[in-house]
Amino acid sequence: MKLSRRTITAFRKKIYCHYAAHKRDLPWRSTCDPYRIVVSEIMLQQTQVDRVIPKYRHFICAFPDFSALAAAPLNTVLSFWHGLGYNRRALSLKKLAHQVVDLHNGMLPDSLEGLLALPGIGIATASSISAFAFNKPVVFIETNIRTVFIHEFFGTMKNVDDKEVAALAEQVLDKKNPCKWYNALMDYGVMLKRNYPNPSRKSAQYAKQSRFEGSHRQVRGMVLKTLLKEKSLTQKQLIACIDKEESSILSALDDLIRDRLVSSKKGEISIA
Ligand code: ADE
Repeated sequence: MKLSRRTITAFRKKIYCHYAAHKRDLPWRSTCDPYRIVVSEIMLQQTQVDRVIPKYRHFICAFPDFSALAAAPLNTVLSFWHGLGYNRRALSLKKLAHQVVDLHNGMLPDSLEGLLALPGIGIATASSISAFAFNKPVVFIETNIRTVFIHEFFGTMKNVDDKEVAALAEQVLDKKNPCKWYNALMDYGVMLKRNYPNPSRKSAQYAKQSRFEGSHRQVRGMVLKTLLKEKSLTQKQLIACIDKEESSILSALDDLIRDRLVSSKKGEISIA
C-alpha cells in the first residue's frame, strides 16, 4: 500500500498529538544509555510494561552497567529476574554483558548486524535497541505498533502479514526522530487496545501468550525458585519440594539443564 504525502502527514500529526497529551512516563524513556535500553527491551520482549517497571528499577540498581552484570553470579541475576518469567532471557542477558565487555570494550555495538550477533537478540529487539539507544531510523514492529497499523490502515481485512505492516511503518517513519516516533506509536497502540476489542487479532502474526497456570513454564519457574532458595538439592529432595507431578518436574529440570540455567553434578542440583 502506497500512502500519499497528505495521509502520512495527517497520520504523524495524529500520533504526535496523542503523545503530547498522553505520553507514558516509563523509566527507560529518560535514558539512552545502551545498557539500560538493552535491559528494558529484553524484559519487555515477553513481559507486560506494568510488571517490568519495578523489576527494571531493581535490576538497574543491582547491576548498573555491562561489567557489573557480567561479574555477578548467575543465581543473583536470576533472583532479580524472578517474577518476569522466561528465565532463559536472564541467562542470555548475562552472556550478552560478558560479550560486550570481552569483545567490544564495554560498548554495545550500534549496527543491526553487531546487535544480532549477541545472545538473546532477534531482529525485533535489535531494531528496538537501534531506535531507542541509537536513534536510528530502522523499521521496528512490536505488538502495540502492529495494532496501530492494522487499526488505522487495514479496516476489516483479516490475516494482515507483518510484511505489509513493515511497508507502512517504513513510509510513515519520522526519520529525524525515530526514538520519539516509536514511543509515540506504542502509546497510541496502548490507547487503541484499551478502547477496542483486541485489534491486533487481525494480524497473521497474532499469537496469544499460552496459559501459565499448569504449564511447563510454570514448573520451570517453580524448579528455579526452589533452587534459588535451597541452593543445592538432590533430585529426590527437589521433587519433594514441588507440588507437581514427578514427570513434569523432571522434564522441566532436563530443560533447565539443557539451557544451562541449572547444573547437576554428582547428584547435586543447583543453579549453574
Ligand atoms: N515494548 C517493546 N519495547 C518497548 C518500550 N521501549 N516501551 C514500551 N513497550 C515496549
